[in-house]
Amino acid sequence: MVYEPREDSYLLAEEVKRRAWGKVLDMGTGSGVQALAAEKSPRVTDILAADVDEEAVNFVSSMRINAVQSNLFENIEGRFDFIIFNPPYLPNHPMDDVVAIDGGPTGREVLDKFLDECKEYLSEQGEIIFVQSTITGIEQTKKKLDELGFDYEIAAKQKIPWEELVVFHCRLKPEL
Ligand SMILES: C[S@@+](CC[C@H](N)C(=O)[O-])C[C@H]1O[C@@H](n2cnc3c(N)ncnc32)[C@H](O)[C@@H]1O
Repeated sequence: MVYEPREDSYLLAEEVKRRAWGKVLDMGTGSGVQALAAEKSPRVTDILAADVDEEAVNFVSSMRINAVQSNLFENIEGRFDFIIFNPPYLPNHPMDDVVAIDGGPTGREVLDKFLDECKEYLSEQGEIIFVQSTITGIEQTKKKLDELGFDYEIAAKQKIPWEELVVFHCRLKPEL
């Protein structure tokens, strides 16, 4: 199922348009909304879109966006200046099989794995930007970013029924 862009997508896309630069990776591309937003930034040189879902990869490829099927970074090579992710971030029941929104039993599994792995794919000045919901623990994310050595800012927020969406913009702390 190709995820139809929603509030989370548009909130993130606005920040992507303003901030994306260099070589961009749009992880979990879905409809390609973030890759298309990145294309609008004059500072962007290259865009690669990735999704675990073959249908999403075919969909964005049909828009002539360079795309690869990949479970997170499994099939990704090289380093990127700007990595975007709108992860599946809702806690889900193991019987439900909706990969676009299923963030695992706690809702954090995919996001946490992404955060653990993304460092290896960032250029020296590289940045990541992602969106998540208050439902799955903003404080936990801040703690994890601290532990992984990221500086971060909250780039945007939006209240919607039941939750608030929060966009994190992060870069690795310079090594001392
Ligand atoms: C919430 S949707 C976001 C789609 C689009 N980027 C947007 O902003 O509207 C999450 C996307 O992540 C993809 N996804 C889920 N698990 C993934 C994984 N392990 N690796 C790569 N993509 C994944 C889903 O297929 C889906 O397209």
